[in-house]
Amino acid sequence: MAGRENRAFTWAFHLAKLIIVEIAETTESVRVRISAARAEGKKIGLIPTMGALHSGHISLIEAAAGQCDYIVVSIFVNPTQFGAGEDFEKYPRRLNTDLEICAANGVDLVFAPSADEMYKSENLTWVTVEKLTEPLCGRFRPGHFRGVTTVCAKLFNIVTCDVAFFGWKDAQQAIVIKRMVEDLKLPLEIVVCPTVREPDGLAVSSRNRYLSGEQREQAASIYKALQKCEQMVRAGVKEAEVVIKEMRDILTASRGIEIQYIDIVDVDTLEGLERVEGRALVAVAVKIGSTRLIDNIFVETVGR
Ligand code: PAJ
Repeated sequence: MAGRENRAFTWAFHLAKLIIVEIAETTESVRVRISAARAEGKKIGLIPTMGALHSGHISLIEAAAGQCDYIVVSIFVNPTQFGAGEDFEKYPRRLNTDLEICAANGVDLVFAPSADEMYKSENLTWVTVEKLTEPLCGRFRPGHFRGVTTVCAKLFNIVTCDVAFFGWKDAQQAIVIKRMVEDLKLPLEIVVCPTVREPDGLAVSSRNRYLSGEQREQAASIYKALQKCEQMVRAGVKEAEVVIKEMRDILTASRGIEIQYIDIVDVDTLEGLERVEGRALVAVAVKIGSTRLIDNIFVETVGR
């Protein structure tokens, strides 16, 4: 009897949590909610996501809660940013769990559109940021950033947020989006938040769930390589090639890791640096089995 009561309570609790967050599936219904929030003088924050929410996404929701009065999370696995042979079909989709997470974290509105709502039958207008999208992931994922900037431009236009929150986990994405907003004079602020990591340093990612136990252990060497880089730069090593070689050794020591790139680049232009001087972005992309993982850190040299 008590068990049944408990179960009923649990369901009621889940239901209550689900009811707290509103869901909109169309542009029109988002606009109605946003107009009402604006009429109350609320500052609107948007966190664009592809769902399968985790502690990295939650950190963005928390940052938004600190700065905004009305928080919108978009959940849309954006087909145009996936290339042929990438994981679009198997990308985790867990809307009910995501809604619970949003409700529990004080999100006011979840925008979960269909692909048809975002792209109709044929999309003829694309947003492309040049140059910044060529190096790093751009070399391995042609067309990826065009999909990202196009969907973000649409989301910014639909939600008309005052602030949008992104993670440094995808540093090139954040830099590209910031540039798009600047170049197109879009009326919003972009806030970029620190990377949330697992206890062993692995950056939290929706794709970590693809890893087997053994692969998950190997994945920890990505952050070890980044930490090694930080130590070397702090110790005064300036030749990028020397640092990259050490990082490569750490990664290749884990059999099963295929390196796509290890690059040390200028934080503004994303062009490769021969010498690490001032602030630099150190970015890594690897494949473990069929899973592609990326991570990065910023390093800064002190003195000359
Ligand atoms: P998604 O991978 O779901 O990530 C949504 C946001 O969460 C991005 O800004 C990403 O940088 C941030 N994020 C992911 N893991 C994080 C971590 N460990 N710590 C901090 N932030 C983290 O990035 C996308 O979706 C899409 O490209 C999107 C921008 C939604 C466009 O479709």
